Amino acid sequence: MKVDNLTLSFWNKIVLNKVSLEIKPGEFVFIIWYSWSGKTSLIRSIIWDFKPASWDIVLDNWGVLYGNFSEKFLRQYRRKIGVIFQDYKLLESKTVYENVAFAMEVCNYKEKDIIKKVPEVLEQVGLLLKKDKFATELSGWEKQRVSIARALVHDPEVIIWDEPTGNLDPKTALNIMEIFEELGRLGKTVIIATHDKNIVDTYKKRVISFKDKKIFSDENPWNYNL
Ligand SMILES: Nc1ncnc2c1ncn2[C@@H]1O[C@H](COP(=O)(O)OP(=O)(O)OP(=O)(O)O)[C@@H](O)[C@H]1O
Ligand SMILES: [Mg+2]
Repeated sequence: MKVDNLTLSFWNKIVLNKVSLEIKPGEFVFIIWYSWSGKTSLIRSIIWDFKPASWDIVLDNWGVLYGNFSEKFLRQYRRKIGVIFQDYKLLESKTVYENVAFAMEVCNYKEKDIIKKVPEVLEQVGLLLKKDKFATELSGWEKQRVSIARALVHDPEVIIWDEPTGNLDPKTALNIMEIFEELGRLGKTVIIATHDKNIVDTYKKRVISFKDKKIFSDENPWNYNL
């Protein structure tokens, strides 16, 4: 995945200024930055959740996103990227199973594929027994795992995870490591936005840090060093 010359601004306030970065297939990368610096905005712009001021984003050989592409292209592009949002973005009136199934329904998967895939991914994140609970009945960590399951249903090439340990106690945060390792074994490209020094220093992977709206350092392996 390649982000070329991305500039992002809100109401004329620049959040990112001419950022370019390249992440190879199968790489594991931490993006570290202070709160309110633009991590979530960077992720949202990668999946075209809003339109940055100027940009090109390339996902492997999938072509370049300029302003002009079809809805169909966007749908296919988004399926290649599974995002686990900081605020989970679950549908509260739906159960665990329905939340994950819904992600497939909106992409027009066949019913028989949904019935097969949803229990598989729920098992993978250890939530199969809670499949009939409503999103409102879950703890933060359970909600996060529904969000992981939902990101995995499309077998995406790239997983982007925003603040995996943001709301977790340090012990539960260690469970996250097991999930990282599993994703690595599956050969996924994993991009993690975080300000958790502990996980970055424990994991020792490529670390991209930002400062003054630009990339400040890009080292592999590296520590949390802001
Ligand atoms: N939709 C929006 N409209 C206007 N300003 C926004 C919008 N989204 C984000 N911003 C601004 O952009 C800046 C970066 O926000 P963002 O949420 O991307 O930061 P972050 O690095 O993810 O922070 P955190 O570590 O707290 O999650 C903030 O100053 C925020 O106020
Ligand atoms: Mg954020």
